[in-house]
Amino acid sequence: MTTVLIIGASRGIGLELVRQYRAEGCRVIATVRDAGAQARLAALGAEVKLVDVAQPASVSGFSWLLDGEKIDVALYVAGVIRRPDARTPPTQPDFDAVMHTNVLGAMQVLPQVAPLVEEARGVFAFVSSSMSQIEGVANSYSWLYRVSKAALNMAVAAAQHDYPHARLVTIDPGWVQTDMGGDGAPLTVHESVTGMRKTLASVTDADKGRLLHHDGRRAAHW
Ligand SMILES: NC(=O)c1ccc[n+]([C@@H]2O[C@H](COP(=O)([O-])OP(=O)(O)OC[C@H]3O[C@@H](n4cnc5c(N)ncnc54)[C@H](OP(=O)(O)O)[C@@H]3O)[C@@H](O)[C@H]2O)c1
Repeated sequence: MTTVLIIGASRGIGLELVRQYRAEGCRVIATVRDAGAQARLAALGAEVKLVDVAQPASVSGFSWLLDGEKIDVALYVAGVIRRPDARTPPTQPDFDAVMHTNVLGAMQVLPQVAPLVEEARGVFAFVSSSMSQIEGVANSYSWLYRVSKAALNMAVAAAQHDYPHARLVTIDPGWVQTDMGGDGAPLTVHESVTGMRKTLASVTDADKGRLLHHDGRRAAHW
């Protein structure tokens, strides 16, 4: 049976990933931060672990929670956004919140989970954004968030070299109707996650370290 790990699964894209992989018949291990989310996901048949990726004490014990597992598909979904543009300097608390969750958390999780993905010759995807792309950037909207996702892309592309038996990628879900994306987004969470799952199922060695889009396009430029 395929084992899937979703890190940051309480709502939005992470929750829909749990729903769809469970509907496909996969065994799903999911992480959330609170007991309410834990109960909701357990009701979907997921095995739920409590992990806050922004708390070093919590994330440092992650590999212990996954002892002996082989992971076919892992997704790092946890993320936060701040929206000011480059006319406003980021505050230290905003910088710490965004960079900790979107970058440091991913870099702390990666060495703990990638060996388990290598065991299964699997795929480890980190949810990034088209807003990470430097080439052709159109404006500075959500400046700090853009920086964090660009850093995430580099963290993943560089780490690929240390885990040759896993396929490490970043994936852009599109602009999606979630708490983060808002009601005006063009994609439903069902559409985005359906595309993401299809795209991840198509990953080959040629995609290692790359940014993929939910609709299967491979990013031409960073
Ligand atoms: N929606 C879009 O249009 C869009 C576009 C591009 C990229 N993305 C990316 O897609 C991912 C999911 O976004 P979403 O739209 O589903 O956002 P969302 O609805 O705001 O959900 C964010 C998720 O991240 C979790 N999270 C935040 N901080 C965490 C922490 N410290 N530890 C563990 N989990 C944490 C949240 O858990 P809690 O419930 O505990 O807060 C929640 O499950 C993010 O990485 C985001 O940057 C989204």
